Amino acid sequence: MSRTIVVTGGGTGIGRAIALRFDAAGDTVVVTGRRPEPLKETVRAGTGRIEAVRCDGADPTQVRELAERLPGRVDVLVNNAGGNTDFDLAEPDSLESLADQWRTNFEANVLTAVLTTHALAGRIADHGSVISVGSIAADNGAGAYGAAKAALTTWNLSTAAVLGPRGITANVIAPGYIATTEFFRDRMTPQRRDQLRTATLNDRIGQPADIAETAYFLASDGARHITGQVLHVNGGARTTR
Ligand SMILES: NC(=O)c1ccc[n+]([C@@H]2O[C@H](COP(=O)([O-])OP(=O)(O)OC[C@H]3O[C@@H](n4cnc5c(N)ncnc54)[C@H](OP(=O)(O)O)[C@@H]3O)[C@@H](O)[C@H]2O)c1
Repeated sequence: MSRTIVVTGGGTGIGRAIALRFDAAGDTVVVTGRRPEPLKETVRAGTGRIEAVRCDGADPTQVRELAERLPGRVDVLVNNAGGNTDFDLAEPDSLESLADQWRTNFEANVLTAVLTTHALAGRIADHGSVISVGSIAADNGAGAYGAAKAALTTWNLSTAAVLGPRGITANVIAPGYIATTEFFRDRMTPQRRDQLRTATLNDRIGQPADIAETAYFLASDGARHITGQVLHVNGGARTTR
């Protein structure tokens, strides 16, 4: 049976790979983001089952409008929108700019997931899935960005508890370094890339498809008893027990 999947931040990188994974399996996918061009690119890369809706996930009005445009039933919500907004801001030189830095990371990485999940909750099908993209940074520090991803993970626990009685699972995928996305802007050097590869146990650099396959699994029948969890996809760069 074809499902309806919503992927926030689906115009680029990991979000696009997730959208294309579900599309390839025959699902209908709605991708969101602020810039129309990358969204159109994802639609073009698909097989005709992907629709783009422009939406800033941190803006309550736009999220409400998104929810109103969606079909009555959404099977899977992937809260992927986000990133380290420090890369787009100057180093804070005042309390005001420090406050901006923290607020911006919170809005991009936490508020987008909270608002979208809340707005869509009534439409998410019983036994559906909410999947949020966290980060290894939640455990490694990384200032305002890491703190925001840690908050996302804590929020996921209450989401899993609230939606659990309907059979809906809520999990976080925490990627390590994933290449070929817009995440690092132009800041990734060959030296840093080598360091990140060497930090893995499998001497490998992560790819968007690694996260897309994990998301696909979490939305599958085989994952119905996995909820309230963080799945680390990082080549062992940071291990759990
Ligand atoms: N790449 C990595 O190494 C890595 C590692 C750990 C975690 N992650 C996480 O993985 C997720 C995807 O990142 P990526 O690596 O694929 O980077 P990316 O290519 O920069 O993708 C981020 C996407 O989020 C969208 N977005 C950002 N803010 C948004 C907002 N307010 N509303 C709607 N869409 C928004 C962006 O589109 P617009 O700008 O057009 O809105 C963009 O398509 C992020 O949550 C990131 O924190 C990435």
